[in-house]
Amino acid sequence: MVADPEECDMEELTNLKDIPNSLAVFCLATYGEGDPTDNAMEFYEWLQNGDTDLTGLNYAVFGLGNKTYEHYNEVAKYVDKRLDELGATRVYELGLGDDDANIEDDFITWKDKFWPAVCEFFDIEATGEDVSVRQYRLTEHPDVPNDRIYSGEVARLHSLRNQRAPFDAKNPFLAAIKVNRELHKSGDRSCMHIEFDIEGSRMRYETGDHLAIYPINNEELVNKLGELLNVDLDTIITLTNTDEESNKKHPFPCPCSYRTALTHYLDITSNPRTHILKELIEYTKDPQEQEKLRSMASTTPEGKQLYNQWIIQDNRNIVHILEDLRSCKPALDHLCELLPRLQARYYSISSSPKVYPTTVHITAVLVLYETPTSRINKGVATSWLATKQPSKSEIPITTPIYIRRSQFRLPTRPQTPIIMIGPGTGLAPFRGFIQERDQFKEEGKRIGDTVLFFGCRKKAEDFIYEEELNEYVKKGVLTMHVAFSRDQAHKVYVTHLLEDNMDEIWRVIGENNGHLYVCGDARNMARDVHNIVLKVVQQKGGMTESQALAYVKKMEAQKRYSADVWS
Ligand code: FAD
Ligand code: 2AM
Repeated sequence: MVADPEECDMEELTNLKDIPNSLAVFCLATYGEGDPTDNAMEFYEWLQNGDTDLTGLNYAVFGLGNKTYEHYNEVAKYVDKRLDELGATRVYELGLGDDDANIEDDFITWKDKFWPAVCEFFDIEATGEDVSVRQYRLTEHPDVPNDRIYSGEVARLHSLRNQRAPFDAKNPFLAAIKVNRELHKSGDRSCMHIEFDIEGSRMRYETGDHLAIYPINNEELVNKLGELLNVDLDTIITLTNTDEESNKKHPFPCPCSYRTALTHYLDITSNPRTHILKELIEYTKDPQEQEKLRSMASTTPEGKQLYNQWIIQDNRNIVHILEDLRSCKPALDHLCELLPRLQARYYSISSSPKVYPTTVHITAVLVLYETPTSRINKGVATSWLATKQPSKSEIPITTPIYIRRSQFRLPTRPQTPIIMIGPGTGLAPFRGFIQERDQFKEEGKRIGDTVLFFGCRKKAEDFIYEEELNEYVKKGVLTMHVAFSRDQAHKVYVTHLLEDNMDEIWRVIGENNGHLYVCGDARNMARDVHNIVLKVVQQKGGMTESQALAYVKKMEAQKRYSADVWS
C-alpha cells in the first residue's frame, strides 16, 4: 500500500505489529533548512514530541536530498534514528539519495540490497525478475459533457473559474499580473520584475515568504509530442488506478484531454529517469535503438555512462528522445502514466506587505540555453511568465499562485542590525526586507544597521533595482557593497567584499547580536559565504576553528544566520 502521511493517521503505525510480516518503508525528502515536506510535517512533529512505543514495527527509510544543501537528508536521518529509539526494528540501513548527482541511481543501488535483506529478515524467497505492470487503466470518453472535463485545475473541477478562498497548494488563486518589466539594462539575458494582484483573495504574506506558481508547458513542445506519436491530443481520457485500494485513483485530474495532461499536469522537459527509458524499449522497433535504451536503463557502468552522456550531458527531454529514436513510439497513455507531475515553481517574494499589501512582487531570471545537440531549451515557468505582458492585453493576464510560508524572517526588533548577502536574484527577498526597514524609519522608529552585499556581472547590464537601492542609500536606510564580477579582468564576488569588510561584519553579528542572511545560489556562493563567516568569527572574535563552528551553529539555531537558497 502506498500512503501519503498527510492522508493517514500515522498513530496507526503502533498497530502495524499486529499484521504478520508487515514492513513500513518511509521515503522522505528534506527541504530548505532541514525541514520536512508539508505533508510529512505532522508525522515529523509526532515523532519529535511523542514517546509512543513502536516495538514490533519493522521499517526502512530512504531519504531524498541534495548535497548542495547544508542539511543534507536531515529528515530521513532523523526519522531513521528516532524510529529506532522508539523501539522499532530497522530491517535495512538508511539509504540516502542525492539529487545533485543521480538520485534514481542511489535509489536503485539501495533497493538492490534492500530487497535481499527484506527477504532474509522475513525468511522468504526472492524472485528474480523485475516485472513491470501498468498501474493505470485507460478509458477514452468520446461523449463526456464539456463541463465534466478538467482543464488544468489542481484538484477541484472548475476551481479556477469558481474561485473560493482559502487558497493553497491544492486550490491556487488566479492572480492577475499587473506589471511585468525587464530589469536588465543591456546584455542578452533577461530578468523580470513581476507584480501579482492578490486583492480580494484573503491571501496574506510576510516579508521573506515564497510565491508558488503553477506554470504550463510550451505549446509547441506539446504539439510535437502529439505529432511524433500520431495521436489526436484532444481525445478525452481517464487513467484509473488498477489497485482499487490505493488512495490515489488517478495520476492527475481526470477526465481531461491529452493536451491538458501534457500542458498542465506532466513534466515533459526534465531529463527522463531510467525507469521511463526501460518502459520505452517495448515500443521501439529498431534493434539498435532498442539496445541503446536497454543499455541506458541498465545498471552496468557502460549503461550509466551512456545515460549520463546521452540524456544528462546532452540534456535530452522526452520530446528530444522521441525525435532522435525515430522507431520509438510509446502509447501516449502509458507515457502519461510514466512522466512525473509538473511541479509548481517557487520564487522568493521581493516586496514587503507593509508597503504592498495587495500585490506580491517577484524577481525571476529567464532560463534559456542551448543544449549540446543545438536545441534551445526554455525554462518552463520563466519562459511562460515572459509571455505574460499585461500592457499588451485588454483582458487580465492571470496565473495560478499560492503563498508558501518560509522561515526567512527579519528580526522582530527593527533596531537589530542585519547583514544581507544576495548576488543576482538572491537580492529578491532583501528588496522586501529593505522596504520594510524603510517603512519603519518613515514611521519614526529607530532602525539598526541594514547592510547589503550585492553582486552581478556588469554595472551597466544586470545591476537590478539599482535606482531604488541608491535611493535607500541616499535616505540613510541602507549601506550597500556591490561586486561586479565581469567589469574588470579578474573576478570580484560578494565573498571578496565580505573579506574586505570583516570588521563591519563582526560588529553586526559579534558585538551587536545582529542577524546575517544569505540568499541565492546554493551550489557555491552560500557555501563560500559560510566559510567566510567562520573566518570572521575566528579572526575578529578571537576563536578557534571549533569554537567558531559552534558559534555559527548557535547563530543558526537562534535564527540569527538564515539562508534562502536554491540550486
Ligand atoms: P525549468 O524548466 O525548471 O528549467 C530549469 C532547469 O534547467 C535547471 O534546473 C537546470 O537543470 C536546467 N538548466 C538551466 N540553465 C541551464 C544551462 N545553462 N545549461 C544546462 N541546463 C540548464 N528563481 C528566481 O529567478 N528568482 C527567485 O527569487 C527564486 N527563488 C527561489 C526560491 C526557492 C525556495 C526555490 C526552491 C527556487 C527559487 N528560484 C528562484 C528558482 C525557481 O523556482 C525556478 O527553478 C527557476 O525560475 C527556473 O524555473 P523554470 O521553470 O523557468 O525552468
Ligand atoms: P560570474 O557569473 O561572473 O562568475 C550573480 O550571479 C553574480 O554572482 C555574478 O556576478 C556571478 O559571477 C557571481 N558569482 C558566481 N559564483 C559566485 C560565488 N561562488 N560567490 C559569490 N558570487 C558568485
